[in-house]
Amino acid sequence: MDNRPIGFFDSGLGGLTCVPHLMKKLPNERIIYFGDTARTPYGSKAPSTIRKFSLQISDFLVENKVKMIVIACNTVSATCLYDLKERYPDTPVLGIIQPAAGAVAENCSPSNRIGIIGTKVTIASHTYEETILKQNGKLDIFETACPAFVPLIEEGIIENDIMDLTIRHYMDDFILENRIDTVVLGCTHYPLIRSNIERRYPDIRIIDPSEEIVSSIENTLKKKEMMAEYPETENIFYASDLSENFVRMIRRIFMHSDVNVEFKNLDLEEV
Ligand code: DGL
Repeated sequence: MDNRPIGFFDSGLGGLTCVPHLMKKLPNERIIYFGDTARTPYGSKAPSTIRKFSLQISDFLVENKVKMIVIACNTVSATCLYDLKERYPDTPVLGIIQPAAGAVAENCSPSNRIGIIGTKVTIASHTYEETILKQNGKLDIFETACPAFVPLIEEGIIENDIMDLTIRHYMDDFILENRIDTVVLGCTHYPLIRSNIERRYPDIRIIDPSEEIVSSIENTLKKKEMMAEYPETENIFYASDLSENFVRMIRRIFMHSDVNVEFKNLDLEEV
């Protein structure tokens, strides 16, 4: 039994899409979330920069006594999961790509045509493709980067024509030419535009890694006997730029869940 909070981080808002799934499945757990809103997006930055930012944030989470680090960001998971695992040998570190790739390998068949969408860094790393094929070598995988999605989502530009046009721009030909029938939302921001994608491509099956990672969190906590028995703290949401937008988006994401939130701005100089 371990009542300490779980540390989550992302370049911004995206990682929050995991949290309602976690709260539903593991209601006794609490989290410390860090959104690096001052430096988002990560998805087009150099891997060395992403690694530096991620180590800085993870150090902060470990100093705040989290019992586990969840990399709620595909870009970071693709870039430096193993650096983080090595740096904190006493703290379990979970990436978001591995559980999602496992779900694809298990639930898809060779008749499926699987499309991975993500940031430039995630797609260029081919981590999804390689991890899926290692487990199920018979699948057909196609990948494409959609770099404008994250800045639009961080701005709250979701339910409107600009987002719908951007989806068409990146995905229409990709889906048609490759005859894609299954799409993996390979960026934790993308569940926020899931309904736009479903509206445009109603026949496509969607796999959401933000949901898949929760089973992996549960399995690890159970295996290590680290499940919380009762909540000891509130959930705390840190942002490196606590903008009105961030607060508004958190409220929108948690609209239907009973989650108490406390917001804190964190000057990166202090980290
Ligand atoms: N939410 C992130 C991901 O899953 C990163 C987005 C970004 O900062 O570009 O990849």
